[in-house]
Amino acid sequence: MNNRPIELEVTNLCKYFDAGKKRKLKAVDDVSFVIHKGETLGIVGESGCGKTTCGKTCIGMLPKTAGMVKYKGKDVHSMSKKERFDFTGKVQMIFQDPYASLDPHQKVYDIIAEGIRIHKLAKNQAEEERMVLELLDMVGLNAEHAMRNVHEFSGGQRQRIGIARALAVDPEFLFCDEPISALDVSIQAQIINLLMKLQKDRDLTMLFIAHDLSMVKHISDRIGVMYLGNMVELAPAAELYKKPLHPYTEALLSAVPIADPRASRERRKIMLTGDVPSPVNPPAGCRFSGRCKYVTEQCMKVRPELKEIEPGHFVACHLHK
Ligand SMILES: Nc1ncnc2c1ncn2[C@@H]1O[C@H](COP(=O)(O)OP(=O)(O)OP(=O)(O)O)[C@@H](O)[C@H]1O
Ligand SMILES: [Mg+2]
Repeated sequence: MNNRPIELEVTNLCKYFDAGKKRKLKAVDDVSFVIHKGETLGIVGESGCGKTTCGKTCIGMLPKTAGMVKYKGKDVHSMSKKERFDFTGKVQMIFQDPYASLDPHQKVYDIIAEGIRIHKLAKNQAEEERMVLELLDMVGLNAEHAMRNVHEFSGGQRQRIGIARALAVDPEFLFCDEPISALDVSIQAQIINLLMKLQKDRDLTMLFIAHDLSMVKHISDRIGVMYLGNMVELAPAAELYKKPLHPYTEALLSAVPIADPRASRERRKIMLTGDVPSPVNPPAGCRFSGRCKYVTEQCMKVRPELKEIEPGHFVACHLHK
């Protein structure tokens, strides 16, 4: 059990988008979780299941439809201007695509210094320069890189610049939205290791979104699995791998590559059949019911609640009472 204070508290959060003709696209539908100080919560799920929308709504980048998000006890959707300004200094984001999220014609120095200037964190020019160089060093770049334009850098290097930019304001909370998906596999582990080191050194709290379960295991303390706007399972990372309870988690796990070719051959890969249904018109009952091999009549009628089946292990599935 985590005894540290709750940093982010998300309760019954809903985020719907307008889908025309009075219909709603339920991108996030009744999601609840907490993240403790210094903890990393990973969120995984297929494309379109609502991960980014959930994260952006949690840090107030998107208005909510219903529910509540509190950061250190404060409602992130009803902050005063001053509170909002302080919040943007404490909560930072690292984006999926380091090519799209950084202006290619800007100098690395200015990108990193921007937050320092906005939040007036340096007393003078000399201190600003010292801070920028320190940040570059922290992410494995050097002074020589500072005056170059972003377009001269590779994807991995750009992501390092994005991380330095996020850290410039000395944040407490990082929202990482698939920060390695756009990078070469060989670079992915480097960026994960860097984030893990920074997280530990600075006691950061993190919400870390990933497509699949292969990388997220190493960085997460706990992992939440999303399916079509719902959180279907939430457990400590090792526990989720050892003992997945939701049929969807089981299927996701069976797709994670294993290094040992023999173990990989012997493992049964679970193929998901059927398409992901539309979040505009999601199935009644369990949203996974149409693709689940254990489906019962109850699953198609009654939506299962996320329940704690074992200490700290939550699942929303009628198979588990
Ligand atoms: N601004 C928007 N307006 C309307 N619909 C949106 C908007 N943003 C997201 N959606 C829809 O909400 C659902 C969830 O999208 P979201 O981007 O949160 O998924 P995701 O899990 O992050 O997917 P990916 O893995 O591809 O990044 C999708 O059906 C998407 O089309
Ligand atoms: Mg996304």
